[in-house]
Amino acid sequence: TKRVFSAFKPTGRLTLGNLLGAIMPAVRLQDEADCVYAVADLHALTIKHDPERLRVRTREAAALLLACGLDRSLLYVQSQVPAHTELAYLLESTAHFGEMRRMIQFREKSARQEEVRLSLLTYPALMAADILLHRADLVPVGEDQRQHVELTRDLALRFNRLYGETFTVPEAVHPPLAARVMDLTEPTSKMGKSDGSDAGTVYLLDPPADVHRKVMRALTDSEAEVRHDPEGKPGVSNLLTVLAACTGKPVGSLGYDTYGALKRATAEAVVETLRPVRERYAELSADQGELSRLLAAGAARAAERTSGLLTAAKRAIGLP
Ligand code: TYM
Repeated sequence: TKRVFSAFKPTGRLTLGNLLGAIMPAVRLQDEADCVYAVADLHALTIKHDPERLRVRTREAAALLLACGLDRSLLYVQSQVPAHTELAYLLESTAHFGEMRRMIQFREKSARQEEVRLSLLTYPALMAADILLHRADLVPVGEDQRQHVELTRDLALRFNRLYGETFTVPEAVHPPLAARVMDLTEPTSKMGKSDGSDAGTVYLLDPPADVHRKVMRALTDSEAEVRHDPEGKPGVSNLLTVLAACTGKPVGSLGYDTYGALKRATAEAVVETLRPVRERYAELSADQGELSRLLAAGAARAAERTSGLLTAAKRAIGLP
């Protein structure tokens, strides 16, 4: 069986983009693979943050991932397994400054800030450590993480070449639809905790009325034809993609006469997709003790599973 790893940053609240682009594919992989998933709290330290809020968001993200159906995998919080940062240092010592500086996300995010944390630059080395630590074959992620997984492959190959066969070279897997869900009000930007706008972002815990309002106010265009054409009609195409991903129907089978009808159907589909998630989340968050126990057990198992690889990597690179 293949090994799978992916992680989710608790920078903000999880969005519909996270769900369709990565969480749902990760849920499906549980049927056929050995899956490990983590809340990447260390990655949330790469930009300005509030400590108390981070603690709350980390637990919320863990409970939400379980509520979405990631309850048949090993799930834990990244910072509770020190092997991640240990291996990250070995990979920082394998990576080159130039290739890190060229990462699209680094360039975009650093351009928007005055004080750029050093960890924003080294972020992909930590992400590579996450993946390589678990000897993952497959990494289910949205389109925006493609370049980071490519870099992970390069680092694994380079390390193996320099120091001997140590790492499994992973591969990114993207969902056929919805690998890049766009912001509803700015359909040329990605829907995201930090990228898009609040009005154009659907959060997994949004009540149905909010989902309806956000979808009904989605930006479309001045034509009146429902057609999938991401270049020419980004808003309409995004709605069609979201509707198809939520219902499991092919985009081509979705015929609507008006934008209003398309929006109503999309809002309904998103509400129905989120309903069980919100219900399950309410149950799970009622028992914080149980969540803590589950995450502690997950971290212990993850530490156990990864200690061999970490030792092998240290030995290969020349540490005692
Ligand atoms: P993050 O936390 O930003 O996003 C989590 C996952 O959701 C996907 N995603 C989207 N997919 C489609 N449309 C969108 N609008 C959208 N927004 C987000 C992301 O591609 C991602 O798969 N660096 C990672 C977290 C991470 C990780 C890892 C991932 C840390 N270590 C190891 C895989 C393997 C991140 O910031 O994702």
